[in-house]
Amino acid sequence: MIDRAVRPELGAMVRPLHGGDVWDNPDVNDYSSNVNPLGPPPRLKDYINEAASDLHCYPDDCCARLKEAISSRYGVGMENIIVGAGSAELIRLFPEVFISPGDKVVMPRPTFAEYAFGCRLMGARLVDHVLPEEHDFALDVAELAAKLDGAKAVYICNPNNPTSRMVSRRDLLDLVAEAARKETLVFLDETLLELSSRSKELSLVQEVEGHENLFIIRSFTKSFAMPGLRVGYGFGPKAMLRYIDTARLTWNLGTIEQRVATRLMEEEQGHVERAVKMLEGEKRRMHARVESMMGKVPLPDSYFFFAPLGSLGISSTEFRRHMLHHGILVRDCSSFGGCCSNYTRFCIKTPDLNDEFLDALSCAVDDIAQGRS
Ligand SMILES: Cc1ncc(COP(=O)(O)O)c(C=O)c1O
Repeated sequence: MIDRAVRPELGAMVRPLHGGDVWDNPDVNDYSSNVNPLGPPPRLKDYINEAASDLHCYPDDCCARLKEAISSRYGVGMENIIVGAGSAELIRLFPEVFISPGDKVVMPRPTFAEYAFGCRLMGARLVDHVLPEEHDFALDVAELAAKLDGAKAVYICNPNNPTSRMVSRRDLLDLVAEAARKETLVFLDETLLELSSRSKELSLVQEVEGHENLFIIRSFTKSFAMPGLRVGYGFGPKAMLRYIDTARLTWNLGTIEQRVATRLMEEEQGHVERAVKMLEGEKRRMHARVESMMGKVPLPDSYFFFAPLGSLGISSTEFRRHMLHHGILVRDCSSFGGCCSNYTRFCIKTPDLNDEFLDALSCAVDDIAQGRS
């Protein structure tokens, strides 16, 4: 009976898979999720303790203080800001507000699985835009724009998860303008941009009020290495955010999350900047070493690697198992579909940890060459 009662969209769906599954592998060094390699700011625990008063009251449903902090950091009006329990909540909310059954949604592939999941849940008709493996998965914006006729929305992740490729500001603005002409909404995920050295140059956050079709998400998760506290935020034109804010869950952010995130936004930007500097240097150092063991690997645009496994002759799932054997968790990319089962994704951390990673990689490559399982 339940199978007949469930909404047809949900019947055939399975939950998306993600990296960071350390709860099954407690002693590993986690290279499968892309968070700030310096860890959370050292004062995070103080902020949490200080925030723990007033839990007998409901949280501020408007998140006013946090929005003020975001507003002054980005120079964007408070009415252009929404906050969520992780950017994951905003990814789910967007199709709940704008997608009706049968709506066409254009989705680059591969990309973060939650977008398609949220759209499918609302009955969207997804049109894939397959990113070309032969061009290192670079997004050709003109080709994407050519698919927008009759589309309700198009998704872009910049930099893209899992490919680590970035799209230029010019290309993004062209796409947003073309989408506006076709009455298509643009969902732009910048959650991975803040830890990239080109964040200021590529971000469209300051553009939202001038573009009626643009919605952007960001997150505290990556920048402050705190996936365990759920805080994300989004930017959009007032007219759009009015609807998204109406639809969101009441009290979606607890008092601790609101207060901690406000302190981080106001006082800990230096922590993010230090990480960005370190990641840039480590990326080049790691790239040379990784290529010497894995053959040709594209230099990531961003701060995580998407590396082909062709020269090792094994699948993403097998590679993950080999690395786990040496204490390192990497992302099994098979769930991204298509050719991704021939790629692995791993992040960049501090020099010491990266040395451990490179030693483990060398052992794993040796195991594979020797046929050890
Ligand atoms: C590209 C991208 N966007 C959004 C998210 C969701 O992050 P959070 O809900 O922690 O903000 C993730 C998490 O892995 C991600 O990789």
